[in-house]
Amino acid sequence: MTNPALALTTRVQQALADALGPQWREADPVIRPANKRQTDADFQANAAMALAKQVGRPPREIAQAIADRIAPDDGLIASVEVAGPGFLNLTLRTDWIAAAANHQLADERVGIPTPEHQIVVVDYSSPNAAKEMHVGHLRTTVVGDSLVRTMEALGHDVIRQNHLGDWGTAFGMLIEHLLEVGEDSDEAKLLETDPNSFYRAARAKFDASDVRPEAGQDQEQVRVDDEERVVNSAKAEPAGSAGDFAVRARARVATLQSGDAESKRLWVKIMDFTRTYINRVYRDLGITLTDDDLRGESSYNDELAEVCDTLEAKGIAVVSDGALCVFQDEFTGRDDKPVPLIIRKSDGGYGYATTDLATIRHRSLDLHANRALYVVGAPQNLHFRMVWAAADKAGWIQGTEPIHVQIGNVVGTDGKILRTRSGDLISLQFLVDSALQRAAEVVAESRPDLSAEERASIAHQVGIGAIKYADLSVSHDSGYTFDLDRMLALQGNTGPYLQYATARIRSILSRADAVEVNGPIILTEPDERALALRLLDFGPVVAEVGETLEPHRLAAYLYDLATTFTAFYEHCPVLKAEDAAVRDSRLALCALTRKVLVKGLDLLGIESPDQM
Ligand code: ARG
Repeated sequence: MTNPALALTTRVQQALADALGPQWREADPVIRPANKRQTDADFQANAAMALAKQVGRPPREIAQAIADRIAPDDGLIASVEVAGPGFLNLTLRTDWIAAAANHQLADERVGIPTPEHQIVVVDYSSPNAAKEMHVGHLRTTVVGDSLVRTMEALGHDVIRQNHLGDWGTAFGMLIEHLLEVGEDSDEAKLLETDPNSFYRAARAKFDASDVRPEAGQDQEQVRVDDEERVVNSAKAEPAGSAGDFAVRARARVATLQSGDAESKRLWVKIMDFTRTYINRVYRDLGITLTDDDLRGESSYNDELAEVCDTLEAKGIAVVSDGALCVFQDEFTGRDDKPVPLIIRKSDGGYGYATTDLATIRHRSLDLHANRALYVVGAPQNLHFRMVWAAADKAGWIQGTEPIHVQIGNVVGTDGKILRTRSGDLISLQFLVDSALQRAAEVVAESRPDLSAEERASIAHQVGIGAIKYADLSVSHDSGYTFDLDRMLALQGNTGPYLQYATARIRSILSRADAVEVNGPIILTEPDERALALRLLDFGPVVAEVGETLEPHRLAAYLYDLATTFTAFYEHCPVLKAEDAAVRDSRLALCALTRKVLVKGLDLLGIESPDQM
């Protein structure tokens, strides 16, 4: 057992039962790290206060009774003391910590536990095809990828679902634009290199030729970060009105949706380009998504009519003003009336919500998810809650907990959404390129001795690591400022700082010329003991991220570990340690720290360069 809090829990529960009776055997002793400003103890048990009422005795008395039953010489606890209103202050035996650290050093999993097995479906990244991924998608991609890495490390079965926005009326105008510029033209190639420009060009043509005055009526605004989806009528004006782009685009939507082979071929072509584009982004960023994980909106098409029919038959959906809607009392608007979830528009078209109904049903009934995570922007929360509540009423969620991992905004240093001067959203590629360039400057300055090739590879790891860490070190639902200077700093709570820590330890180890670093770890100095104790927290922290879905807890832990290591390294000479056993022990502490940092960064999706 390398988890001190768990070991203490078992031990204090035993004492509880001995002191108060067997019925308290399962009571939670509430073990927490001790407040270092109040005590030198390692942990605190707050059970006595929590139990006082139920037991009917004052907390201090209960605490004392428990303390009396903890034999100080049981191999785990060195001392126990009752403090304040009834806290139990617990200090671990240093040799227990050393043994646990040796165990962790030898453990391939570096202490990461295997909690009860789960099937976890993770919907993340999920950009909109034929539109450039922007900084909002960067964050859903980075946070989602860290969560899947963490879940897999904990032994869960992870099913990635890249819910690509690959369907909808925008494809009408994209196909018509593709036909106009020519399928093999340079403009068509933009889909692969700069999809945003392609989309913008198509959009401009559409807007310029769109004369329908009442366009608003058919527009379903789904807040998709900063984009809007304009959903037009599938049964629009007849095709063929010469030269009218908007008319042709609308007609194309209808032929595409009715299964026309030529329209389908053009759609597939656009999707091929798009896949090439997003795969390149994933490769650059070191994201674990592959083509096998694609499960775009279009893949649910065939189910949408049935979804609507079933909900109507069950009385969950009703026709209102020609549209099929789900009204739920739990979701009311300003007028206290239920807000409709529209699942079939009056023109017969289906929307984002219809697809998501089919999606949750698939994830629960077909994939048997224990948890279904949706790593998506916070503004979509109401949408998801309404969809899931409706699906639940239909019996489509069985044994699955759907969870919206809400992603906050990324803003510029001026506090506003990142945009270019012309008002467009800043593209993800632009941000990544800027970070890489800045990282190259940093490495050029810090390591002029290295070859250009070595520098380029380090700069890539550092630039990507910096972006990811900035995304992951703040809680996923709060906004953060995209500030290249801050995130690339070698000092402070940054990715490069942690990467540098791993590289520095590597260089210490290589200077030691030790063939094998396996200790044993012996703890004599307080800084050695503190470092070992902190290292033991790694497994519990990873498990906690798996539970809470908050990677920033891991980031905070790694930063604290790196700081604890620095204190150790300042006070405890490693290479110059006189005694061979002390040197071996400290080298082992270095090696274990590096293992934990490298593994922890890996769970965040961040690489550790060999040198920096
Ligand atoms: N494509 C959507 C967007 O860009 C995100 C999709 C999220 N997943 C889902 N099942 N709705 O905002």
